[in-house]
Amino acid sequence: MNRKTYMKNIYSKYWIVARKKKYGFSEYEKNLCYYIGEKISKESKILEVAIGTGFPFGDFFQNRGYKVYGVDIAPLLIEECKKLNVKINCKVGDAENLDYRDNFFSCTYCFNSTSYFDDLCKVIDEMVRVTIPNGMIIFDIQNRNNKEIIQNYNKMCLEKSDQIRKLFRYAKNFGKIILRKGVPDWTNVIHEIPIYPKMIYQHLTRLNIKHFKVFVKSNENAKLEIKNEVDFLDNYLKIIFVITK
Ligand SMILES: C[S@@+](CC[C@H](N)C(=O)[O-])C[C@H]1O[C@@H](n2cnc3c(N)ncnc32)[C@H](O)[C@@H]1O
Repeated sequence: MNRKTYMKNIYSKYWIVARKKKYGFSEYEKNLCYYIGEKISKESKILEVAIGTGFPFGDFFQNRGYKVYGVDIAPLLIEECKKLNVKINCKVGDAENLDYRDNFFSCTYCFNSTSYFDDLCKVIDEMVRVTIPNGMIIFDIQNRNNKEIIQNYNKMCLEKSDQIRKLFRYAKNFGKIILRKGVPDWTNVIHEIPIYPKMIYQHLTRLNIKHFKVFVKSNENAKLEIKNEVDFLDNYLKIIFVITK
């Protein structure tokens, strides 16, 4: 099974429940919404790439008068998004090939999702393409230079490959089936791969994009803190790139 099939068929069953129940609407996510809200005027057309169920971002913006569009690879999540948010114009699609015309959105954003894409550079190209000149493209990444992120990633890789851990995982799956709780996962797919910030810098250079800002999620209060030195980002779990097209 490849990662895209995993995201469509397995992860979506987990995410449809976990999004609201487990993660809620965090302070960090609110700060991302306020940031966009300050820069982009209401009534504008905005696109959420990998929208999931539409909660919390699409929901936040639709309630404030934006024309929200959304795309996600998982049909289950798009069905739920339509049910929960009648005003969001969402559809099933792959972030690597956005089915919108050039220069269409005032803002294109993507949060909590870049680690799940096979080809993030292609997604960035697409986000830039569909955004109007002077519009905003904003996305966050899980920082692959951060110790905690690396540890979690290595743990996930071990869990998928090590035979003993695999046995534990299978036992857990049987527990999930018996208790009818959670989503059993028999695959060896590593679905979440953190990103090196340098890779984004290099891609933006290739695209000749000069107008961009880099923020981090502050470790103290989850606020967005501006940082412009790629070499000093290792302490931060999340890095946010804001591009002006
Ligand atoms: C962790 S969820 C985050 C969803 C939403 N952004 C949020 O914060 O609630 C990751 C999302 O990425 C979507 N996804 C993964 N690969 C994708 C792709 N290639 N194209 C579109 N969506 C994708 C998944 O289906 C899932 O909804």
